[in-house]
Amino acid sequence: MILKPALAFSLLSVAFLTFSLSIYLKPGFVAAALGVEKDKASAGRLVWQKYNCQSCHQLYGLGGYLGPDLTNVYSMPGKGENLIRALLITGVVQMPAFQMSEKETDHLIEFLKQTDASGSADPRGFSILSSGMTIRK
Ligand code: HEC
Repeated sequence: MILKPALAFSLLSVAFLTFSLSIYLKPGFVAAALGVEKDKASAGRLVWQKYNCQSCHQLYGLGGYLGPDLTNVYSMPGKGENLIRALLITGVVQMPAFQMSEKETDHLIEFLKQTDASGSADPRGFSILSSGMTIRK
């Protein structure tokens, strides 16, 4: 059986809209579920940009490669908030000691917390759902 082009187009459009709706109607779970303060995290994104962390670090594998990927540094065992705070003050290897205010540091930490809650940067930790989306195992 050969579908008429108009019918095929309609069926594909319905399938596309159904799939898109099913994805976009899912609640944004990150901020609500994990107690991230959204405003602070947004301000933290600007701090991240202001000090150009991305030139040496990656988020989800994108960015510079002088330093490690920081997507999940907030929740890594032995790392987390205290290490981030310390390194921002002291610097390490090629990373400069940043002269940022405590407020900026707080915002940056909240941004990294939110980024961490948004998923995992290591694809070995992914589960693939039937919808084609991935979640952290
Ligand atoms: C000039 C390059 C450079 C810039 C800019 C830079 N870093 Fe780094 N950073 C590094 C390097 C290199 C390391 C790895 C040091 C090591 O080998 O232990 C590092 C390590 C870190 C670590 C520890 C990561 C881990 O897994 O141990 C954190 C956290 C970090 N940086 C945060 C930041 C933040 C936040 C900014 C922006 C304010 C920033 N860095 C900007 C170069 C940079």
